[in-house]
Amino acid sequence: MFKIHVYKSVDEVSQKAFEIVKKIVDVDHPVTLGLATGSSPVGMYARLVEDHEKNGTSYKQVSSYNLDEYVGLPKGHLQSYLSFMNENLFDYVDIPRQNIHMPSAHSDDLKKDAQEYSKAVLAAHVDVQVLGIGSNGHIGFNEPGTPFDSITHVVALKEETRQDNARFFNSIDEVPEYAVSMGITEIMAAKKIVLIAIGNKKALAVKEMIHGKIREEVPCTILQKHPDVVLILDKEAASLLDD
Ligand code: GLP
Repeated sequence: MFKIHVYKSVDEVSQKAFEIVKKIVDVDHPVTLGLATGSSPVGMYARLVEDHEKNGTSYKQVSSYNLDEYVGLPKGHLQSYLSFMNENLFDYVDIPRQNIHMPSAHSDDLKKDAQEYSKAVLAAHVDVQVLGIGSNGHIGFNEPGTPFDSITHVVALKEETRQDNARFFNSIDEVPEYAVSMGITEIMAAKKIVLIAIGNKKALAVKEMIHGKIREEVPCTILQKHPDVVLILDKEAASLLDD
């Protein structure tokens, strides 16, 4: 079930997402966060860091599981999702390092690691999963056509996704072709989902997510079946929704 919030500015979007996550970090102890990368949650992370610095909100009892990670980037690469998370959150709050979990992207047996990651995520019972959305409706890196019963797996990235993410690299050739992503199963198992969508490019995916037929060709449509999804949209991302 969706609770939909539409705001005029990205600042308001970020503030709302921040308030929801902060409330959970404050109230529930211990807490498991499911975290996402991408530009959409950046403002939310900035507010969480600011709040930690100003108000001392503690992450000592927080564990985190990230949605996805690129395969093939050298360890420490600036565009790896671990670097992103360090830069935007982990380096600036007091979350214990051993509580931070990212999908393994550097082993000889990515498949086995992915299965173990799936078990760990499910056992951790994510309290809130933060999500962005791809312009093609992907969630995490679950590209169109991913089975709804998928668990964490290695993904071949679609060309459109590589193009979308090329802005973070020097050229499209540097964008990895593979990633490891939580599956739809782990995402749907989260107690609560907060999905942030900003900009015109997301408008069609947002419309499909809410009103489209539930189908694997548009992965985000599965969220219609989740009992507690908060959609936080700017007016561009909401522009194809009826009033
Ligand atoms: C990537 C990530 C997704 C993210 C999406 C949208 O593909 N794997 O988790 O939701 O990008 O990114 P952005 O928020 O930058 O639009």
